[in-house]
Amino acid sequence: MTVLARKIVVDTATTEFATDVVAGLTATPKKLSPKYFYDSAGSALFEQITELAEYYPTRTEIGILNERAGDIAASIPPGAALIEFGSGSSTKTRKLLSTATSLAAYVPVDISAQFLQQQAKELRREYPKLAVLPVAADFTKPFELPDPVRIMPRVGFFPGSTIGNFEPHEAAAFLRHAGRILGRGATFIVGVDLIKDTQVLQKAYCDSQGVTAKFNLNLLARINRDLGAKFNLDCFEHHAFFNRERSRIEMHLASLKRQRVKVCGECIDFRAGETIHTENSYKYSLESFGALARGAGWTPAAVWTDPNNYFSVHTLSLRD
Ligand code: TRP
Repeated sequence: MTVLARKIVVDTATTEFATDVVAGLTATPKKLSPKYFYDSAGSALFEQITELAEYYPTRTEIGILNERAGDIAASIPPGAALIEFGSGSSTKTRKLLSTATSLAAYVPVDISAQFLQQQAKELRREYPKLAVLPVAADFTKPFELPDPVRIMPRVGFFPGSTIGNFEPHEAAAFLRHAGRILGRGATFIVGVDLIKDTQVLQKAYCDSQGVTAKFNLNLLARINRDLGAKFNLDCFEHHAFFNRERSRIEMHLASLKRQRVKVCGECIDFRAGETIHTENSYKYSLESFGALARGAGWTPAAVWTDPNNYFSVHTLSLRD
């Protein structure tokens, strides 16, 4: 327990949040970690983003998984375990679970232990022949696979182009880390968003209804709620643009005027137009992702895309 500002007594998670926020806002350029997007308000807004007409990735990836379920299932060895990194509500997984009927086990890995147990119960009801073996863990850190899975062939699943939210060197490190967890002979199914027309990309991250703006601004709302800061949300604006040179969508919160905001007793000064960098979403070509995977020790085995070439689902294999 720590006393932050006057009268605010907080737990360790909030202390860590406060430390990260102050470090990020006193850095040059200013930044905030995207992991703080997902409080309950942020998670609900993210759910809304995935349903927007302009946000093509979710719909397109589900389309590929549905269309190619048979081919993808054929790349899964009989009696295998499917291990999902960051499973959430396992929406995209159900098509695979229904089609790859020879799967012996499903291991959803998620940081939210309580939600995970609820989801596991539901999945056991829906797939009575499948061993559902949840692991509550931060999937970016080392974790142990459940015992029964160790003797099964292993297939990793990492949809959502979440790999694009890592810096490329971190994405490579994550692929290596997943390889260590899954082990030799494993297969890895990874969803990756593709480089495309700038307008299409930018609209996906700056929608006409302002849902993505709300999602981004919720970071400041959360700092107000949890840390007692006084950000005026009307004095900041959501910016999202495609940086083609670095092949990434950048999301920022731009200060609309010169202002000073007190955060955890620290005065943070903003110039007019100064931004807080909140997230990147890297876009790859089929080749550039293949090269990244090879560099991380995986061998590209197959790749599926939609008719517009907006999104890709890769299967990688880890040689014995
Ligand atoms: N990984 C997805 C993407 O980059 C989902 C996502 C993560 C996202 N953070 C986001 C979508 C912020 C919109 C805004 O598209």
